Amino acid sequence: MNADYERDGFLVLPNFLSAADCDALQARAAELGGGADPGSARTLFSTRDQGHARNRYFLDSGGTIRFFFEEEAPEQLNKIGHALHDLDPVFDRVSRQPEFAALAHGLGLVEPLLVQSMYIFKQPGIGGEVDWHQDATFLHTTPVTVTGFWVALDDADRDNGCLLALAGAHRGALRQRFRRIGETTVMEDVDPTPWPEIEPTPIEVRRGTLVVLHGLLPHASSANRSSRPRHAYVLHLIDGHAAYSADNWLQRPDFPLRGFS
Ligand code: FE2
Repeated sequence: MNADYERDGFLVLPNFLSAADCDALQARAAELGGGADPGSARTLFSTRDQGHARNRYFLDSGGTIRFFFEEEAPEQLNKIGHALHDLDPVFDRVSRQPEFAALAHGLGLVEPLLVQSMYIFKQPGIGGEVDWHQDATFLHTTPVTVTGFWVALDDADRDNGCLLALAGAHRGALRQRFRRIGETTVMEDVDPTPWPEIEPTPIEVRRGTLVVLHGLLPHASSANRSSRPRHAYVLHLIDGHAAYSADNWLQRPDFPLRGFS
């Protein structure tokens, strides 16, 4: 395994995705997003007493393609998720390209499975911040195997909300678990250790760069305060040899997870 990845908990691989593939994902997301109905989403997301419908919309998104809008700007797309890689031919092709498979195996995933995909818009002046978290909080396996492939579809820097990471802090404990209980979800503290007091590393990258994120690496991103978009595509993998937690929010009982083939 790569020494930088072991030391830092993330790995930056410039020029991993071709400009043509970046173009293809952006064009497809625009097409899908154009079909999203902000009217119904506004109803779903603006009314406080719609908690149940909102939960259902999210919980069912693990095996389908759904649209999520900005809290502060309900007509603006925040992201599309979470089974783009299985259900959309363009996202399927890009996600299952041999370079991704080889990288997953190189990182030590014995039986990599593609569990979740997200197209993140982070629109100029609108895209909100993402709080500090570890991805294993949301996609838990025993042992922890979740690995993020985060691809910049626009140049990403401090001004438009690039990734921030606490380098090396992936060697700490998992702090929280996001558990599904029936039709609802809860965030539970599992280890009270605070994040280490180190300066966050801004991961400033060019379009086409792949950032590999260890499942225990604390990471975040700021709001996009620039006039430039900051689109990204994120694919999460787990190892099929690890036990996938029965109380993860994302469950696909009738739609088995697939690997790269
Ligand atoms: Fe994350």
